[in-house]
Amino acid sequence: MRAVALFKYLPIEHPESLVDVELPAPTPGPRDLRVQVKAIAVNPVDVKQRAPKDKVETSPRVLGWDVAGVVESVGAEVKRFKVGDEVFYAGSIVRPGCASELHLVDERIVGKKPGTLSFAQAAALPLTSLTAWELLFERLEVARDASDVLLVVGAAGGVGSILVQLARRRTALTIVGTASRPQTVQWVKDLGAHHVIDHGLPLATQLKALFPNGARYAVGLTQTDRHFVDLAELMAPEGKLGLIDDPKQPLDVMLLKRKSVSLHWELMFTRSLYETKSLEQQGRILDEVSALVDQGVLRTTLNEDLGPITAATLKRAHALIETGHARGKLVLSGF
Ligand SMILES: NC(=O)c1ccc[n+]([C@@H]2O[C@H](COP(=O)([O-])OP(=O)(O)OC[C@H]3O[C@@H](n4cnc5c(N)ncnc54)[C@H](OP(=O)(O)O)[C@@H]3O)[C@@H](O)[C@H]2O)c1
Repeated sequence: MRAVALFKYLPIEHPESLVDVELPAPTPGPRDLRVQVKAIAVNPVDVKQRAPKDKVETSPRVLGWDVAGVVESVGAEVKRFKVGDEVFYAGSIVRPGCASELHLVDERIVGKKPGTLSFAQAAALPLTSLTAWELLFERLEVARDASDVLLVVGAAGGVGSILVQLARRRTALTIVGTASRPQTVQWVKDLGAHHVIDHGLPLATQLKALFPNGARYAVGLTQTDRHFVDLAELMAPEGKLGLIDDPKQPLDVMLLKRKSVSLHWELMFTRSLYETKSLEQQGRILDEVSALVDQGVLRTTLNEDLGPITAATLKRAHALIETGHARGKLVLSGF
């Protein structure tokens, strides 16, 4: 099967940073689906996994954790899906990625692809929807009737683009998103944010100008090292702060003590990494996202389909993500 892989961890502009390879088709385990990959989305985690370092792989390493495709064969104990089903999923960080014609995934973390979306439109959603859903409804435990203020830092990015929709459509929260450019400001408003403030300027001053009592909920989706002091400043007493990125510096959690603000981490790979008891919840979340899309409640966050899944197009996607100014999701489709 065709695939895009790496052997060395190189800057993206290096000719060998990602290469086209032929690999043997993988054999499904008992709970695995073997999926014919139709489209994939690219995420900052791909870029982080590919980050330059001295390590050299002895066999080709495939990256990619966002898929829409068709079940091609199933393991002996698979119950939820059958050959021919259209699916979407993020997969597991400790298994080979999805930039290959065939891909294995545990059925428990797979959802039914929204019937109203193309494969490219569907591939934009799984990883970021799982992150946003788990963060809002499981880590922060936001209730359906919650009517407080939610700040979303990095609202036009992949995660923000679905999180803003979920918050707007599934809660009564007042949403303040951050964006720094006219096209991302408009994108965030179109997704459903009530207000947009600029993450290039101090966040606490702007948030408190709108809501003097601060934000009951805030999610720092990116650049947390830059914003953490401001986040502590703008939180309402007894507020809840959620984080998902990889701050390079230690965070001073003591800044949260005086207001009894609680800090919540979300990593959408935790369930598959540790095979937690709640692993199957990821399949349920994706099915619910799929239903909400088909009901017209949520829309795809696809911004651009860059074309076929080749080393050349994947390199383009990585380079665009590396700018830190992605809007919605970048997708590759077909081989
Ligand atoms: N823990 C998890 O499970 C999980 C899951 C998914 C992602 N992540 C991590 O979360 C982070 C965000 O992911 P993503 O996919 O949403 O990223 P992304 O799509 O690359 O985010 C791009 C957005 O970041 C905004 N941005 C740029 N500079 C900023 C700043 N200084 N402050 C605030 N926002 C800024 C940009 O807005 P402007 O263009 O308007 O500046 C742009 O829209 C990444 O580090 C990713 O690895 C973690």
